[in-house]
Amino acid sequence: MKEYKIAMIVGSLRKDSFNRQLASALVRLAPPEFTFSDVGIGDLPLYNQDDDNRQAESVLRLKREIANADGLLFVTPEYNRSIPGVLKNALDHASRPHGQSSWSGKPAGMIGISPGTSGTAMAQQHLRNILVALDVPTLAQPEAFIQTKDGLFDEKGNIGEGSRQFLQSWMDRYAAWIKLHLSHS
Ligand code: FNR
Repeated sequence: MKEYKIAMIVGSLRKDSFNRQLASALVRLAPPEFTFSDVGIGDLPLYNQDDDNRQAESVLRLKREIANADGLLFVTPEYNRSIPGVLKNALDHASRPHGQSSWSGKPAGMIGISPGTSGTAMAQQHLRNILVALDVPTLAQPEAFIQTKDGLFDEKGNIGEGSRQFLQSWMDRYAAWIKLHLSHS
């Protein structure tokens, strides 16, 4: 059976991040042939184009992890109606040097959670814009804008009963999207 290695990028560095909790619970809904590795972005320097030809070890590590993955999963908060700067920083770093982007052609999906009613909708729309520029084919539907609420996670950190069906169907579509792309590559 073919295995699918997914690089998961969480856009929050916060210890008790809702998005990290969502990411941990969501991957448990994936088919067994999928494995997810958490790509760290908290140790990257601020992007500076002067360093494109002498990238820091943390940047080279990020690029390696993306390059070795079959697909991408972004789980991100919304900061001021866009994606957090730490996520944009990571996207920029791994897109360079010019012509050597690690992102190109990697199929992706995105999801996010927020205490607000918009559930990261605007951040996700901004992320879609960026991923077009990076040549990352991104799952369009279903969109998933999750709001924090009691019972979203159960006591074991799984997705709670009320949201499980929706998030399972999201994961099923995501997995099918990744497989579809890799079957053509
Ligand atoms: C926020 N938050 C927020 N929420 C939202 O729905 N829309 C927004 O535009 C913003 N803007 C924003 C800016 C900044 C700088 C911070 C720190 C926070 C609230 C945000 O959704 C909340 O803090 C989440 O808990 C962040 O996600 P994690 O860290 O829990 O994953």
